[in-house]
This record gives sequence, C-alpha cells and structure tokens, in this order.
Amino acid sequence: MDRVKGKVCVVTGAARGLGLAAAEALLAQGGKVLLTDVDAKTGAAEAKRLGANARFCVQDVTDVAQWSQVLDLAVSEFGRLDVLVNNAGIAHILDVETVTLAQWQKLLDINLTGVFLGTQAAIARMKAQGGAIVNIASIEGLLGDGGLPAYNAAKGGVRIFTRSAAIHVARSGYKIRINNVCPGFADTQMVSGALATLQPEIAQQFAEKTLARIPMGRFASPSEIAAAVLFLASDESSYVTGSDLVVDGGMTA
Ligand SMILES: NC(=O)c1ccc[n+]([C@@H]2O[C@H](COP(=O)([O-])OP(=O)(O)OC[C@H]3O[C@@H](n4cnc5c(N)ncnc54)[C@H](O)[C@@H]3O)[C@@H](O)[C@H]2O)c1
Repeated sequence: MDRVKGKVCVVTGAARGLGLAAAEALLAQGGKVLLTDVDAKTGAAEAKRLGANARFCVQDVTDVAQWSQVLDLAVSEFGRLDVLVNNAGIAHILDVETVTLAQWQKLLDINLTGVFLGTQAAIARMKAQGGAIVNIASIEGLLGDGGLPAYNAAKGGVRIFTRSAAIHVARSGYKIRINNVCPGFADTQMVSGALATLQPEIAQQFAEKTLARIPMGRFASPSEIAAAVLFLASDESSYVTGSDLVVDGGMTA
C-alpha cells in the first residue's frame, strides 16, 4: 500500500481513461495526486470521489502559462513535486491524404508539445530534489498505421524526446528519471470514440483485425496500464531511465 508513499504526483488528462486509472493507482499506493484535465466537471467530480489526497485543476497541456500554475499548485497544496505523468492526449483516424494541417497541428500540440512543456516545467521544479516523469507514448509510436499518421508522428516523437530529456537530466546530475509507457489498445473512450467516427462495419472489421493481432486476445484494462505507470513513478525503477515499457498483450512481440 505504500509503493509511492508521500510522493506528490501530477497526472494530466486524468478526468477519465488511463489518466484516471493512473491517479487511482498512485493514490492507492500512498501518493498525493493533482489530477488535471480540460474537462472541468468530470475532473472535479472524480477528484472529490478519490478523497483527501486528491485535488483537481483545469489545465490545457498546450498552454505554457498553465503549466507553471499547475506545478506551483501541486507544491502549494502538497509541499513538493515528485512525479509527473504526461498522459493527456487525443486521437483521430485520418490518413495522410485526408488529415488537414489544422487537425495535424492540434494533435501534435496536445500529444507531443504538451509532453515537452510538462517535462521542461517539471525538470525546473524537480532538479534540486529529484523526481520521476512518466510519458504516455504508445505502440503507435513504434509501428506505423495507415490511418494514424499524426498520432504515429506524435507518439514516435514522445518516445525519442523522452530519451533525449532522460540523457540530459542524468548527465546533468539531477536525480530525475524520465521514461515512456507504450500501451497497446486499452478499453477507453479514446478507442471507442475513434471507432465511432468510422462506418459501423468498417469499425467492426478494424476491431476484429486488431484483436486478432493481439496474442493475449483482448484489449488492456486501464488498471493494467496504470500498473506500469506506478512502477516507473516509484523508486522500484530507480535504475530505469530513457526506456519504453511496452504494455500491449504481446501485440508488438
Ligand atoms: N486507450 C488506448 O488504447 C491508448 C493506447 C496507447 C496510448 N494511449 C494514450 O494514453 C493517453 C490517455 O488515453 P485514454 O485512452 O485514456 O484517452 P481518453 O480520451 O479516454 O482520455 C484522455 C483525457 O485527456 C483529456 N485531454 C484532451 N485534450 C487535453 C488537453 N489539451 N489538455 C488536458 N487534457 C486533455 C481529455 O479531456 C480526457 O479526459 C493518451 O496520451 C493516449 O494517446 C491510449
């Protein structure tokens, strides 16, 4: 029950899905968690449900000024900052011939630039005392998918950005570790929402084909991805930095 006891954690995109599951896992193991999200209503309700060690604040991860406010709030509420989970993200199924510049840029802003902004702001606050940053990349940053060019580019970018930042902080002598979790398909609104934009029969074919590619034969539950986040946030991973922890039921094996 105390794998991250007393650690002060910020989790972005935590109103639902994998971010909420990560917040729950960190709280269950003794952490104090500031959940953030653009969805104020759901985020506030979830933080209230999670109890005294949880707080919520509205944050758009693409807004540089909000990053300072959020991390300062974590310090003022809980006294320090130990863990940042850069989880917020969006997805759309639009191939390279179809995706517009505006759609491309919006996805890259949230899924890649948001991770950069959070990592930079967290390093500034963690470098004196140490900490752990966990970036939620994807197996879609390891492999290409014809329908996901912007998402592939962003997640591939997160993976290699994490390595660059991890090398820099370690070589600088800061006690900060930075790692990626690369989930496979998990049962969340992101997946169901993206499938809902397709014709029903195409969505069904996609779901069947995807399941057939997963040796374990099922999607992940959010708590199975959160278990990897917990490991990388905790001191159990004290010698792990610049790595990808793939959690995909064997899909990329
Ligand atoms: N579900 C999967 O199969 C899967 C697989 C691999 C990686 N991921 C990644 O995991 C992360 C979480 O995905 P999920 O499945 O829980 O998605 P989700 O859509 O269920 O939840 C994403 C959350 O991010 C929030 N959000 C969106 N834009 C934001 C912004 N600009 N600032 C702050 N918050 C914002 C949303 O309001 C939402 O609460 C994402 O980075 C996603 O790319 C998901």
